[in-house]
Amino acid sequence: MTVGIPEALAAGEAVRGATSPNPPVGCAIVGPGGEVIATGGTSPAGGPHAEINALRAAGDRARGATAVVTLEPCNHTGRTGPCSHALAEAGIRKVVYLTADPNPQAAGGADYLRSHGVEVTFAPTRVDALQPWLASVRHGRVSVTAKFAATVDGFTAAVDGTSQWITGSAAREHVHEDRALRDAILVGTGTAIADNPSLTARYPDGTLRERQPRRVVVGKRKVPEGNLTRLGFEQYPTPQEALDTLWEQGARDVLVEGGAGLLTSVVELGVVDRIQAYVAPLLLGGGRPVVQRALAGTLADARRYTLGGVRTLGDDVLIELER
Ligand SMILES: NC(=O)c1ccc[n+]([C@@H]2O[C@H](COP(=O)([O-])OP(=O)(O)OC[C@H]3O[C@@H](n4cnc5c(N)ncnc54)[C@H](OP(=O)(O)O)[C@@H]3O)[C@@H](O)[C@H]2O)c1
Repeated sequence: MTVGIPEALAAGEAVRGATSPNPPVGCAIVGPGGEVIATGGTSPAGGPHAEINALRAAGDRARGATAVVTLEPCNHTGRTGPCSHALAEAGIRKVVYLTADPNPQAAGGADYLRSHGVEVTFAPTRVDALQPWLASVRHGRVSVTAKFAATVDGFTAAVDGTSQWITGSAAREHVHEDRALRDAILVGTGTAIADNPSLTARYPDGTLRERQPRRVVVGKRKVPEGNLTRLGFEQYPTPQEALDTLWEQGARDVLVEGGAGLLTSVVELGVVDRIQAYVAPLLLGGGRPVVQRALAGTLADARRYTLGGVRTLGDDVLIELER
């Protein structure tokens, strides 16, 4: 792998959840001898982009160096100046970018750099941190990941409604890590009322992580006093209204945590870009299914996703699916 790619990917991962509506980009500045001089990630909206942070950290050593960037450097002036200009002015000799910018307003950075004597290489690489942002730009809406914990026979709660806990501690810990990377978490009123969840991102000792997503409840029913009401939450009468408001307010990456009623609605809206299924080694034989209504009358019409990854978390398995 090209020197600087793992460092640029790590710098982008490190700012996930803190940059929307901007993408979580990472940049590594690599010296002529192949040594990584500096790295940078995108600052929160309104702040410098990854390239600028990396250039600042590199100082004079940027002259003659290579910049590895997870996304094509932007070429437009928004709240900050174009990164393509800053890279050329800093004397960067070569730019390697891993993803083309799908945003027509910002694209053109590679062309600008070439026309200013900078060697530019496109090295197509999957950048996990950018996937939700890329989907949001492509579709002009927030990117939705649907998450659920299910028994191996497909139930998310028992006949009596109990669902805590289907999965073990390793899977639940992963959920908390994941929440901290998102702009918002959505649950239906059914879950807010039945489970009285806190919807916070916590460490195993129960303390709050540094980054907390917005907590959003969907539905018209009133949520009684509890964790959510104590911590504060937003409520919207329909999923569409919630997703539209979040998009307008700059969110790009949201996690829908159920229950079946809300999950079914977002699948039917056609906005689910990723599925995270935490599958536990349990059989219930009955209870609440993952999806509440039939989505297809025949197998050929089933919603098809591709396998994005499988990992073991304690006794459970996380299956990641992508559109
Ligand atoms: N295993 C898991 O991963 C998991 C995760 C979460 C929950 N659960 C379990 O699931 C159960 C709750 O699930 P649930 O299906 O009853 O509730 P839910 O999905 O949390 O909430 C359903 C409510 O969401 C609102 N809603 C959904 N779609 C809508 C639409 N298209 N338009 C307007 N409003 C819409 C409605 O609220 P109003 O009726 O208020 O208008 C609806 O009653 C609990 O037993 C919980 O423990 C399991």
